[in-house]
Amino acid sequence: MKHLLKLQDLTREEIISILNLADQLKFERKNGILKDYCKGKKMGMIFEKSSTRTRVSFESGMYELGGHSLFLSSNDLQIGRGEPVQDTARVLSRYLDILMIRTFKQQEVEDFAKYGSIPVINGLTDYAHPCQVLADLMTIREIEGSFKDLKMTFIGDGNNMANSLIVGAIKLGMEFAIACPEGYEPDAKIVAWAKENGNFTMTRSVEEAMKGADVLYTDVWASMGMEKDKLQRQHDFAGYQINSDNIRLAEKDVMVMHCLPAHRGEEITDEVFEAHADEIFEEAENRLHAQKAVIIKLLK
Ligand code: CP
Ligand code: NVA
Repeated sequence: MKHLLKLQDLTREEIISILNLADQLKFERKNGILKDYCKGKKMGMIFEKSSTRTRVSFESGMYELGGHSLFLSSNDLQIGRGEPVQDTARVLSRYLDILMIRTFKQQEVEDFAKYGSIPVINGLTDYAHPCQVLADLMTIREIEGSFKDLKMTFIGDGNNMANSLIVGAIKLGMEFAIACPEGYEPDAKIVAWAKENGNFTMTRSVEEAMKGADVLYTDVWASMGMEKDKLQRQHDFAGYQINSDNIRLAEKDVMVMHCLPAHRGEEITDEVFEAHADEIFEEAENRLHAQKAVIIKLLK
C-alpha cells in the first residue's frame, strides 16, 4: 500500500490487516504502552475544509507514534493563491515523510500522490472518506464480533460517506442497503460495482432499507461545501431520518453509527442519537487507532 486515496485501491486483506493493527494499537494505548513506531517522521496535514476529529486524531496520533505533524491551512499556503498542486506536491515531498489532505476534488488528492514522492492520505474529499470508514469497520467488528451475516443500512445523502461505506462494507462481505431521495444517489460507478460484487440495494424507501438492519448509518443532509443548498436539501431529505419509530424495523440490537458532526432533528433524532451515544463515540475514538495503523503501514 503506497497511499490511502480511496478504499477501492485496497484489497480485503489490506483492510483487515489495517484493522488488526488498529486493534493492537488500541490495546497497547489502553495499557499505557506507547511505542515510537514513527520516531522522527513528519506529517503535513493540508486542510481546505473544517475539521474537529480528523485534525485532532491525526495530530495526536502522530505525536503518540513519536512523530511530528504540521497543520497546514490552505488559506495560509500558496496553494490558496493558485500555486499548482504539481509544484506544491514536489516541494512538500522534500520536507515531509507523509501528507494528509482534506479538500473538495478527489482529483486533487490523486494529483498529490501522482506528482509527490511521499505517501498521501485522503482526509476527506467530496467523493470519499476512507479514514472514517476504516474506523467504522473497526468499530463494527469490535461490537459485533465479525462482519459475517451483517446488513448495513445507510439513510440519507449518497455522499462521500455513502460512497466509501459501500466499498468498505461490500469488500468485507456485508449486505448493504441505502435509502436516498431521487437525485442524491451515490456515485454511479460505485453503485454498479456494488451490484456486481455483493448484496446491494438502493431504494427511496427508508422503511424498506431499514428492515433487518444490524448496523444503521447516517450523515448530514448538506455536506461541507454544500451549505448554499441547505434549504433545498432540508426539503428534499425530509423523512430521511433515523428515529424511534422507524428504528423498530431494524434488528433489536441494531448499532447506530454517525461519522459526526450530527444535525439532531434532521438525519437523526436526539433520542436515537443519545441512546446510541456509546457506539457513536467509540466510533469517533477509533479514528485515532485506525489512522495510526494507516500511518505505520504507509511509512514502513
Ligand atoms: N468525521 C469527521 O471526519 O469529522 P471532522 O470533520 O470533524 O474531521
Ligand atoms: N459528508 C460530510 C462528512 C463530514 C465528516 C461532509 O463531507 O461534510
